[in-house]
Amino acid sequence: MKILIVGGSGGIGSALVRLFLASSSDVVVYATYRTQQPMFEGRRVENHRVQWFKLDATSEQDICSLARSISNLDVLINAVGTLHLPGQKPEKTVNQFNAEFFNHNINSNVLPTIFLAKYFYKHLKSKRHTYFVSISARIGSIEDNRVGGWISYRCSKAALNMAIKTISIEWKHKLPGCCVFAFHPGTTDTRLSQPFQKNVPPEQLLTPDYVAQKILSLLNAKGPKDTGKFFSYAGEEIAW
Ligand SMILES: NC(=O)c1ccc[n+]([C@@H]2O[C@H](COP(=O)([O-])OP(=O)(O)OC[C@H]3O[C@@H](n4cnc5c(N)ncnc54)[C@H](OP(=O)(O)O)[C@@H]3O)[C@@H](O)[C@H]2O)c1
Repeated sequence: MKILIVGGSGGIGSALVRLFLASSSDVVVYATYRTQQPMFEGRRVENHRVQWFKLDATSEQDICSLARSISNLDVLINAVGTLHLPGQKPEKTVNQFNAEFFNHNINSNVLPTIFLAKYFYKHLKSKRHTYFVSISARIGSIEDNRVGGWISYRCSKAALNMAIKTISIEWKHKLPGCCVFAFHPGTTDTRLSQPFQKNVPPEQLLTPDYVAQKILSLLNAKGPKDTGKFFSYAGEEIAW
């Protein structure tokens, strides 16, 4: 079983790397980082079954060279994403809109998935079931939008959802064995959510390990018939 975790240095991504390595001795993990390889309990996540690649997931060239370094895959999970930048939090109102921040959200939250679909399509051709998963956020659901706010992140996740749905439709015929889905992790204790955690009741703040386990459970439960859907960590389907 060969698995690629893009954004393997993030809170959720690194929990996925550790979980897949522990899940079976047959699993080989390819994982990417942009800044530095993740640490766990004071040590780098190293194992003879994990191979790390440094890349900028918004760079088409970087994704293209990654695809050349890897052969076939069973599972590809994109766990890259941004919500805030130093000195720039998500907008409370549209009056705070800033085009540069919007473009940054679109670049980090949408482009990687589209580049990955473009360059890893052939890697997911298999007689067995394969999976192409992108970590989205419920906030990107147009149907579910009742509170507004965070316009750049919200639009970028809505665009990501549209990309996932579009890829799933195209691949239904080209890759009938592949299940393409978007995943909502819930509020998870990572760097991304850190500035917004104070109003989250402790029991609602999920650990990255718990969320990684929920993704693994979905991979075990879902198949090509479920392609083109948006699932939450609780296993329920979210309206696009
Ligand atoms: N945490 C939550 O509550 C929550 C809720 C809903 C959805 N999500 C989604 O879950 C996903 C994972 O987020 P997280 O919570 O694990 O956040 P995180 O700990 O901040 O991880 C983000 C990851 O994205 C990578 N990244 C960002 N821009 C990149 C780029 N241009 N090229 C390559 N890598 C890049 C980071 O790499 P480096 O660290 O190496 O720079 C890191 O691996 C994101 O899509 C996020 O939107 C999270």
